Amino acid sequence: MKAFLTSATLSAVSLVSARTFTVYNHCPFTIWPAMFTDLNAGSAVPDYPTGWEAASYMSVSFSVPDNWTAGRIWARRDCDFSSNPGPNSCLDGGCNGGLECDLRLGPGGSDLDWYDISLVDGYNLPARIDNNVGCGIPSCPVDLGPNCPSPLKGPFDSSGFPVGCKSACDANLDGNQSNSPNCCTGQYNTAATCKPSGVADYSYFKDNCPNSYVYAYDESSGAALWTCNATLNADYTLTFCP
Ligand SMILES: *[C@@H]1O[C@H](CO)[C@@H](O)[C@H](O)[C@H]1NC(C)=O
Ligand SMILES: *[C@@H]1O[C@H](CO)[C@@H](O)[C@H](O)[C@H]1NC(C)=O
Ligand SMILES: *[C@@H]1O[C@H](CO)[C@@H](O)[C@H](O)[C@H]1NC(C)=O
Repeated sequence: MKAFLTSATLSAVSLVSARTFTVYNHCPFTIWPAMFTDLNAGSAVPDYPTGWEAASYMSVSFSVPDNWTAGRIWARRDCDFSSNPGPNSCLDGGCNGGLECDLRLGPGGSDLDWYDISLVDGYNLPARIDNNVGCGIPSCPVDLGPNCPSPLKGPFDSSGFPVGCKSACDANLDGNQSNSPNCCTGQYNTAATCKPSGVADYSYFKDNCPNSYVYAYDESSGAALWTCNATLNADYTLTFCP
């Protein structure tokens, strides 16, 4: 699954009404945001397509039902859906489907909103999640592409510029993603056996983006997963290139 790069992971649960989510492309180029709902966790979905084109400085707002249990929003770069629509239509972040992504599966839920900027599946654009009720603001404000360690760097655009920085898991640095300290799988599949010290280049990501979610068990850093009391009914704005 080649998606979820620099994704905002969000879950909003409470009893009444809906929230407004805004996705703002503050990058000086077009991106193609995409949205995923975890249908294992609940069947309610936001009132918006699962993928759209966002010209630079364009923002869209849509309504998200409070019973939207879990989902993610991320950006795709350098897309061309005219031929072979699917995961390879974009230089990074592509999904099955095309402009609009197929719905897919993953986990989440409680009386808190949970949200984070996730680099677990790699990085492709700086991002920040703001809210209107004074809760914490996770961000990855730095372009991690240019200084990315070379085994993780890329993909590259036609000018040779790195438009991403893979996670050590995604890059399969240790050769077996089913039994990997980078992926927290196999014999490393618990928080106790999958420490930050075992994740290659953890500090590159965490030092530059200290309040982002960098690897599968990054809760231990105390600044990865963010919560906001659901009774505050926060509206959220996800900005790419903040
Ligand atoms: C979600 O909540 C809306 C009302 O806000 C309701 O109409 C809808 O049936 C709910 N969906 C699910 C899956 O619970
Ligand atoms: C990868 O790890 C899995 C789980 O431990 C193991 O079953 C498999 O044989 C390993 N594959 C290779 C190529 O080492
Ligand atoms: C959320 O806020 C309500 C109202 O102030 C409070 O009763 C509740 O305990 C809070 N929940 C959490 C998980 O902090």
